[in-house]
Formats: sequence, structure tokens, C-alpha cells
Amino acid sequence: MFAERLAETSRIAQACLMEAIPATGPMTEPMRYAVAGGKGLRGFLVLEGARMLGVPETAARFPAAAVEAVHAYSLVHDDMPAMDDDDMRRGQPTVHRKWDEATAILVGDALQALAFELVCAPETGPAEVRVALARTLADAAGARGMVLGQALDIAAETAAVPLTLDEIIALQAGKTGALIRWSAAAGALLAGEDPEPLTRYGRALGLAFQIADDVLDVEGDAGTVGKAVGKDADAGKATFVSLLGLEPAKSRARELVEEASDALSTYGLRAETLREAARFVIARDT
Ligand code: IPE
Ligand code: IPE
Ligand code: MG
Ligand code: MG
Ligand code: MG
Repeated sequence: MFAERLAETSRIAQACLMEAIPATGPMTEPMRYAVAGGKGLRGFLVLEGARMLGVPETAARFPAAAVEAVHAYSLVHDDMPAMDDDDMRRGQPTVHRKWDEATAILVGDALQALAFELVCAPETGPAEVRVALARTLADAAGARGMVLGQALDIAAETAAVPLTLDEIIALQAGKTGALIRWSAAAGALLAGEDPEPLTRYGRALGLAFQIADDVLDVEGDAGTVGKAVGKDADAGKATFVSLLGLEPAKSRARELVEEASDALSTYGLRAETLREAARFVIARDT
């Protein structure tokens, strides 16, 4: 079953990340807390893409842990009062609620730095592979990627006119899409192969993933999802659901899953687990 496969694989990235967090000091406990839980989808994509292309897990576990570190940092900051102001994450109080805002800022800072330490680990591969992974991860995490998307998301809350569909696609391609695309393509960079098919898969998957997140905000159960629901409309978030309505948004997500699957045709049956991942992304309830 795919959920088990995901859990098993994401434990590999999680373990690598936990090992990399300083064993003592004031940041140990809040950093461990921030990376615990979660589905581990991004780390899974790195490991599964690598496995499909014959890259050993001993190499892929470092970039898998790295992207989970960037993702966890983005969530810690996303939940802070100046951004989405959330009290619950992964079924637990958010870092700034459990500790304080200074701790949450520093946890994010430390996790982002740790991600680049991980991606540059000697085990990841030859120097040129590590540089390619680090450069592309920086691009995906920063002001051309996740940070750009987050900035557009916050700006949209107070925009005078609603965003157009293309503007929402650009926003989501940044805030959620960039890290998911990087995760999908990382296996190809590790293997020294053309990342284009996996990037195309990641682009469609990332968009479908964010639509599912927006649908869960409307239809999900807070206890199951592990975070507050029903907040996007109140906050004036620009989403596929706010623009198109629930059913058209869901049907767009289904089309994107097909697109994601089709992008993998060059890999044939080897890509079946990644195709299952695409189906999972819109069927999930958490
Ligand atoms: C939630 O991501 C935030 C978005 C980018 C939409 P996930 O749903 O992957 O969160 P975790 O890691 O499983 O908690
Ligand atoms: C968060 O998007 C995206 C990032 C953290 C980069 P959301 O704000 O929709 O995520 P949730 O719903 O809080 O998990
Ligand atoms: Mg947000
Ligand atoms: Mg949020
Ligand atoms: Mg959301």
C-alpha cells in the first residue's frame, strides 16, 4: 500500500535529518520538534526518484533530509503571527506557541542552514553533483521560489482585486511548487540524467498538491489534518478554490495528476510508485 511505502521511505530522510541536528544546546529540542511528524512527501520524492534511476539510498538520504529541513523551516515561519498566525501544526502546538517567537525564528534560520550542510555532505556524491543540488535548492527555497510564493500569498490577502488564475498558478508554483519540483528532480541530478521529465512531473504534482491543501482547508477535519481548517477564506487567501469553487478545483487537480503521470512515460513501469504518489496527493485526508 502506498501510504506504508511513503511512511517507510520518509523515515529514512527523517532519521538522517534528526542525526544532523546538534545533539546538545538550546536549539536541539525545538529543532527536533519542528521536523517531527509530517508526511515526508518531499523527502520521499527525492529517495524514490533516486531509487528509480539507480542511485544508492546512502547518497540520496542527504538531499532528502535537506528538503525536509527547508520545508519544516517554511512551516515554522508560515505559522508565525506575522504570517498565517496558526496554533496547531502536525497535531501539536506550533513552535512559537510551544516556545516563543524568537525560538521559532531561530529554528527556521537553523534548519535552512542545516539543509545546505546536508546537501553538501560528501556522501551525496561528486563535488559537481553537490554544487548542482545546492544551487538549485537555493533557487527553489529563495526569492525566485518558495519565498517568492509566500510573499505573493501574503500580498494577495490585501489585494484590491482578486488574483487571476495565472497569478494564482504563479503564486502556488512558488510557495509549494518550487520545493516539490526540486524534490522530484533531485534524483536525476544525483544520477547525472536529464531532469526534464521529473521536473515536468513535479510541476504538475506540486500544483495538484496545493489544490488538495486548499480543498482540505474547506472540507478537511482539523483533528485529522493536524492543523486549523477553514482559515483561507477568512484570511482572504487566493486559491484555486476561492477563484473556481470546490468542484472545478478538484477536477483541475485530477487533470494535473494525469499530467504528472504522463510526464513519466519515458520511465515506463519503473515510475509506477511515483505515479501512485501523484494519485495519493489528491486522495489524502491529511
Ligand atoms: C503543508 O505541506 C504546507 C504546504 C506547502 C501546502 P505538507 O502537507 O506536506 O505538510 P507535512 O510536512 O505533511 O506536515
Ligand atoms: C504554506 O502554505 C506554504 C509554505 C509553508 C511554504 P499554506 O499556508 O497553505 O500551508 P498550511 O495550510 O499552513 O499548511
Ligand atoms: Mg501560508
Ligand atoms: Mg499556513
Ligand atoms: Mg493551506
